[in-house]
Amino acid sequence: MDWGLKNRLSRIIKPTTGRTVMLAVDHGYFLGPTSGLEVPSKTIRPLLRFADSLMLTRGVLRTSVPPDFDIPIVLRVSGGTSILSKDLSNEGITTSIKEAVRLNACAVALSIFVGSEHEKETLLALSELVNQAEEYGIAVLAVTAVGREMERDAKYLSLCCRIAAELGAHFVKTYYCEEFEKVVETCPVPVVIAGGKKIPEKEALQLAYNAVQKGAAGVDMGRNIFQSEDPVAMIQAVRAVVHKNASVEEAYEIFKKKKKEK
Ligand code: R5P
Repeated sequence: MDWGLKNRLSRIIKPTTGRTVMLAVDHGYFLGPTSGLEVPSKTIRPLLRFADSLMLTRGVLRTSVPPDFDIPIVLRVSGGTSILSKDLSNEGITTSIKEAVRLNACAVALSIFVGSEHEKETLLALSELVNQAEEYGIAVLAVTAVGREMERDAKYLSLCCRIAAELGAHFVKTYYCEEFEKVVETCPVPVVIAGGKKIPEKEALQLAYNAVQKGAAGVDMGRNIFQSEDPVAMIQAVRAVVHKNASVEEAYEIFKKKKKEK
């Protein structure tokens, strides 16, 4: 790994803790104006100073994030489907590496759909993205997308994460599952977890806690932050779990305290 790539990755995964709180706000790329992200700038701005990086598309980056705010960008570069598509796995690369460089991205992110109809295309797209991104020292995040019919168990998620790493991804985003430690152990690059659909705040903190205790390098969390009854309080509670090893009770107290302060 060259110096530039290591430097970009260390802006996302903080060397002091080996962990990261990535804020995922890329959902609109196939969901449109999803709940909590109807007006991206309104959602994103108050959260920016608490996030270690921002995962989003170029369209939302250009329109909704101040360019003078110093935050590492993880640019989603795959897409081409919508929630109305018959097959969500039919994605391609939407954004060039030159554009990622222009936008000063630290990493680019692409979904792979292992076991789906378009498995091969998405895996080859990941490989090609790694070839291109490494020329510029940009890191690649593989997102292990799960089809509606896929089991999110350790066996399947280990398969997805390991394939992503073998093809050259520098870090991988997946889901938390029972025996998550097996997913982490068998993946030679850092693994972060997605939050998934909105659940009560304490349960989402438990999810983050379990993940980091079992070896995750942090979270790439979206809905459980921006759909929270208090997103700013929630991201601070998540940070305590990820960077300070706070217990679920401690983090939930932080959430309640920050919420009350308003
Ligand atoms: C899929 O829409 C995106 O990659 C999201 O960034 C990802 O699912 C993480 O967001 P959430 O925590 O809402 O699952």
